[in-house]
Amino acid sequence: MPGCGIRPLMDEKLTETRIVGGHDAKLGSWPWQVSLQHYTAGIGYFHMCGGSLINNNTVVSAAHCIKKWRNPAFWRAVIGLHHLYEHNSHTVKRRISTIASHSSYDSETYENDIALFTLIKYIKFNDYIQPICLPDAPLTNDEYPCYIAGWGNTKEKGSGKLILQEAQVDIIPLRVCNRYDWYGGIITKNMVCAGSASGRVDSCQGDSGGPLMCYFPNITKYYLVGITSFGYGCGRPKSPGIYVRTVNYRSWIDSHLLDKATTASIQWFLIFLTVEWAVL
Ligand code: ARG
Repeated sequence: MPGCGIRPLMDEKLTETRIVGGHDAKLGSWPWQVSLQHYTAGIGYFHMCGGSLINNNTVVSAAHCIKKWRNPAFWRAVIGLHHLYEHNSHTVKRRISTIASHSSYDSETYENDIALFTLIKYIKFNDYIQPICLPDAPLTNDEYPCYIAGWGNTKEKGSGKLILQEAQVDIIPLRVCNRYDWYGGIITKNMVCAGSASGRVDSCQGDSGGPLMCYFPNITKYYLVGITSFGYGCGRPKSPGIYVRTVNYRSWIDSHLLDKATTASIQWFLIFLTVEWAVL
């Protein structure tokens, strides 16, 4: 993917190392962060989940966000957003043409909690709208700084913030995360544990589908290492947030992107044939 994982408005050299224990993100901090919103008559559009832009018409999110709302016509993606309700000149709203949820998503175990939302129309990238890179090799080093972001709750029993929140998190080894007094074995190899051992820093309700992203200073890019999926409460000790291990779904994602590319080229081929036939 040419030009992914770059934040045009941020100076990475200065980077220090609805989110619990986070703070307001700066405008333009996370240009791939998306708000996925569902329409309800009488209420209008409501923020349901986060998502990450991976190219000019695809948003990766969590399968559990879709629940009974399978009809793409009721969804929209809002990109280039900072304040949830105050859209500005760089904010782009797009309707959704298709929703592809992983066919083996299990709502009991949260296994394969991944979905792709395809935008009805391509979007143009700018300083506020950029795609994130998808990993094609497992994390080799956990020294790199990782972050979460979202408009979700800032407390387990609380509400969300209107300004995008961000926090730095530690990647916690599965071996630790699966200890009997932590998650006790329910975390699989398709998941990533991230947060802080003492709790406090975490994602929460409303952050689902959003990114767990890590910065690789050697290539100066951000990668989508995880997708916010679930957790026991929010910010509790020994119960960090659980994220979908994106690298394990690389071929699933690619096959869905490919599908669309093939359908598009078949369409073009048919149009070509029709025109050809009309001319003859
Ligand atoms: N499932 C939640 C949602 O739908 C996100 C949970 C993340 N929880 C956590 N403690 N990290 O928004």
